[in-house]
Amino acid sequence: MQTHERILILDFGGQYNQLIARRVRDLHVYCEVLSYETPIEKIKEYAPKGIIFTGGPNVVTEADAPSIDPKIFELGIPILGICYGCQLIAHLFGGKVDKAEQKEYGKTAITLSTDNLLFADLDHETTAWMSHTYHVAKPPANFSIIAGTPSCSVGAMAHEEKAIYGVQFHPEVVHTPQGEKMIENFLFKICGCSGDWIMKSFAEESIQRLREKIGNRKVLCALSGGVDSTVAAVMVHKAVGKQLTCIFVDHGLMRLNEGDQVEEIFRNQFDMNLVRVNAEDRFLGKLAGVSDPETKRKIIGEEFIRVFEEEAKKIGAVDFLVQGTIYADVIESGTKTSAMIKSHHNVGGLPDVVDFKEIIEPLRDLFKDEVRATGRELGIPDKLVDRQPFPGPGLAIRVIGDITKEKLDTLRETDFIFRDEIAKAGLDKDIWQYFTVLTNLRSVGVMGDERTYSHTVALRAVHSLDAMSADWARIPFDVLEKISVRLVNEVTNINRVVYDITSKPPSTIEWE
Ligand code: XMP
Repeated sequence: MQTHERILILDFGGQYNQLIARRVRDLHVYCEVLSYETPIEKIKEYAPKGIIFTGGPNVVTEADAPSIDPKIFELGIPILGICYGCQLIAHLFGGKVDKAEQKEYGKTAITLSTDNLLFADLDHETTAWMSHTYHVAKPPANFSIIAGTPSCSVGAMAHEEKAIYGVQFHPEVVHTPQGEKMIENFLFKICGCSGDWIMKSFAEESIQRLREKIGNRKVLCALSGGVDSTVAAVMVHKAVGKQLTCIFVDHGLMRLNEGDQVEEIFRNQFDMNLVRVNAEDRFLGKLAGVSDPETKRKIIGEEFIRVFEEEAKKIGAVDFLVQGTIYADVIESGTKTSAMIKSHHNVGGLPDVVDFKEIIEPLRDLFKDEVRATGRELGIPDKLVDRQPFPGPGLAIRVIGDITKEKLDTLRETDFIFRDEIAKAGLDKDIWQYFTVLTNLRSVGVMGDERTYSHTVALRAVHSLDAMSADWARIPFDVLEKISVRLVNEVTNINRVVYDITSKPPSTIEWE
């Protein structure tokens, strides 16, 4: 069932592909990223209003370079090729692609001719982000040159009749200041999109589709308490009500009152079928005396699956299992080749222990902020939807060294105060992630006339876009001072506060 106009992004392996999808969706046009190997029949069936070829690391003239069935150019669908995508179009139409005399990288002055639809209403002279070694040396017949830089004469090319465009630079990155406008021109002026993609219609249509798919069958969902699984569960609940059972494994490693808040929303606001398993003792028992970070993560991941398995057995066979997979997970798991730094705990092992027929992933096509927007559409309160990213193993990886209930409670109090003061200072929307860490360090202090020997707490606050890299947040000194005073005065066992001023890399965001 096609419900929306949509754009198809064909992925040739470029590093900015997610960004292209972001830009398109920000303009209220739905899009998906599929492999360049998607068969032409499937593309026809998908019926996009336009197609974007992404950049990629290969050289089009080499034998095994990713290519595309030239029949795609006969479908009458507008096409925009970016970087490698542009070179591929040139190559397939008989133009010349060659190694540039010098690699072009970074912000480059570019001259646009603005008498074409792609660059309509833009400035003649502007800047574009370049990142290429090869380039189009000669455009194919019937393609005109519509932009150039001093070292790249074919900065962009167009076959206006066929609505096929190619740009050597990257319009999707912020370093191309008019890039968004170019994408907007492509979507609205060239593809004729209307921009009707809004979260409200997405939520309503998804609920309708889920209702049709599930019918009167049974569904099970594992709730970690995080944003993604919460939104996924509420969406399925809106579709099939009490046919959905949610198992909320509370491992006792969440922030202050967080487990209760999740339960309250699910039970009272949405009247959902909820099984909350208070497994704090079980988790703390398994974690007792363990201080190695990876061992902690492994124990928590495995125990989560065990607890869930026991509860799922009580429910018996179900037809569907709901997972809160989001689009970043889908794209990342498709391309990830990097070394493992930390084993991220998620619900990946669950399918093995549940007796079910099919997985449902209602948020699979959404980016994180779209998940939040959907959550709001569904009526989930902001205080739940806007929560920061929180690691699956929870506070266990923020108590350095071995974990005890007492240390966790101390950490929870410090974390609460830190969040409270950041919100009071109006910095909560500005800082991407902020939390406290209970270091494994005790030191000497003096309170009143007494010597103290207590814990040191560390503050961690970072700016980031995607958690892959992060910069430490420059919290004003007076705010830091207030936090420090409150922590030492209000939390027993804390007599020293330090601020983590390392970025990622070389550090990671979490300490373990
Ligand atoms: P690091 O510490 O690797 O964290 O720089 C990057 C981001 O991921 C979060 N994080 C996790 N999220 N399961 C998760 O779902 C995990 O095991 C996990 N470990 C870290 C971290 O909070 C940060 O946002």
